[in-house]
Amino acid sequence: MCGIIGYTGKKKAMPLLMQGLKMLEYRGYDSSGIALAGQNEFKVYKKMGKLENLEAIVPRNAAALSGIGHTRWATHGGVTDANAHPHAGYRGKAVVVHNGIIDNYLELKQELQGKGANFLSETDTEVIAQLVEHYLVDQKMTPENAVLTTLGRLEGTYGLGVMFADHPGLIIGAKNGSPMVLGLGDKEVFLASDASSFAGLTRQVVYLQDKEIAILKPESWETRNLRNEAVFRNAEELTWNHEEAKKGDYDHFFLKEIFEQPQSVARAFGQGGRLVPEYGTAKLGGLNLDKREFFDIERVVFIGMGTALNAAQVGARMMESWARLPARAEDASEIRTGNPIVERNTLYFAVSQSGETADTIASIHEIQEKGGRVLGIVNTVGSSLARMCNGGVYIHAGPEISVASSKAFTNQLVVMGLIALFMGRMRVLSLTQGQAIVKEFGELPEKLQAALGCRSQIMALAKKYRNAKSMLFLGRGIMAPLAMEGALKLKEISYIHAEGYAAGNLKHGPLALISPEVPSVFIVANSQNLDRVVGNMAEVKARKGPVICVSNIDTPKLRNLADDLIIVPETCEELAPVVAALPLQLFAYYLAMELDRDIDRPRNLAKSVTTE
Ligand code: AGP
Ligand code: GLU
Repeated sequence: MCGIIGYTGKKKAMPLLMQGLKMLEYRGYDSSGIALAGQNEFKVYKKMGKLENLEAIVPRNAAALSGIGHTRWATHGGVTDANAHPHAGYRGKAVVVHNGIIDNYLELKQELQGKGANFLSETDTEVIAQLVEHYLVDQKMTPENAVLTTLGRLEGTYGLGVMFADHPGLIIGAKNGSPMVLGLGDKEVFLASDASSFAGLTRQVVYLQDKEIAILKPESWETRNLRNEAVFRNAEELTWNHEEAKKGDYDHFFLKEIFEQPQSVARAFGQGGRLVPEYGTAKLGGLNLDKREFFDIERVVFIGMGTALNAAQVGARMMESWARLPARAEDASEIRTGNPIVERNTLYFAVSQSGETADTIASIHEIQEKGGRVLGIVNTVGSSLARMCNGGVYIHAGPEISVASSKAFTNQLVVMGLIALFMGRMRVLSLTQGQAIVKEFGELPEKLQAALGCRSQIMALAKKYRNAKSMLFLGRGIMAPLAMEGALKLKEISYIHAEGYAAGNLKHGPLALISPEVPSVFIVANSQNLDRVVGNMAEVKARKGPVICVSNIDTPKLRNLADDLIIVPETCEELAPVVAALPLQLFAYYLAMELDRDIDRPRNLAKSVTTE
């Protein structure tokens, strides 16, 4: 969950590590810390809270040419200075930054305490540092062997960076279940959990694989497996533009990313390259299935967590509507902890922005173990998820930095829509129907641009409802999962309690919550469900609940009932959630602004949840 950055080379390490941590802070911000290499010692600086706190205590001009840094999202042990990483062995010979969870840390801790080790933190991570140091000092192992022997004793997940007091310039990285990438410069090497942390410094990267270590020195790097055999890996060129990972003129990444959607959605359909107007279908190279194999598919399951799960729910409805194939969405954490029934002829899609979400990755392992075929719908190129799937489609949203997802959500919808169109054309859609859908995709960027025009109306709404303690988000059909996404966005960044429901469920419980203090947000599409949703709105009004309505049709039925009506451009029902998502994102944003929240880094959350 956290961010790791390491540097060894010919430049001063401190500014590079601080810059890297700034880029990584969205991954975890409970505390941060840095260890700098010196002669026969290392110096550790760490502080709880935001990165500013660390910045205030580090020596800016430190001469060290190598070091490791960390931003933490606590799993074991409270948010304190002592629990912040890096963690060192009690004799000051090895120091570690870690992302992940060590399941057997208590046994290891007891064993090491029995040998005289003095522990300073409550973290699981500290056992790694103490164990490496034990093998290094007591058993006189080389740094490589000390790390490899330690890894052999760990149960759990890790992305690791280790430094040694007596080997300045040497950093050993390791990966098992958490992302790790090397950045190769001129006589310098970076080690990071995310390539954005050395953006602008090098584009040559090597992705470490599970159960591998990397040995970094200023002038060399190598990768080995846990049996200490060399593994040869070629460097790859990073494709994305790091300017996109900067805030520019916007106050927050979240707002910037909302406003990028007309462009990012166009990238999802390859600026037209993934659309085939002539045959009314979509062309998706990465699916790695030939058309004959698609004939055998009887069912589609989309898997994800959080926003990706909400997107998956929309995707399943698109698939059923356009391809008339049974489709559903599943919570990856439920798959991994349950005993999923993997049926023959079922095609699974794992949906994820980061491609590093632990629950999603574990569910893929489980499905693959049972013989299922999983394809990825992923944003981060080269991520663990992208690598473990049998194929898939990149959503090309570009770097998404805000913890709350916006453009990755709409791009996921578009890509699932393309897959549904492609499969629909093979099954039930005629050429003319397909062509009409292709046209709708093509018009999305313009419509999203127009939808963003509701910004000032939403700013006023946020002022009006800033004192709400709770809100309901309601929609029917394909808008039901969008209601859940609207509620998730609001909770996440404004901390206002919100629930998303299929509007038909209103009378079955949630109606009890309605009062003048609890506004309801209805999301309405031009569908056969319109009258039913209008009925639900009337039920809320009758109980004096304020009604906000986001709709792509402007009819007196809605005008008469809604206290506030936000009209967005019309599109076909399947793509309506893509357009209607924007006012909901803006609504969450401006309410969070009203309440002075930390919008890009909401409390208790982190961008990619790489721990269980
Ligand atoms: C989105 O706003 C949330 N921060 C969160 O629910 C997120 O969508 C979820 O953790 C899944 O992440 P992923 O897409 O990187 O797999
Ligand atoms: N489990 C470790 C801790 O709680 C690492 C957490 C992280 O990945 O940030 O300190």
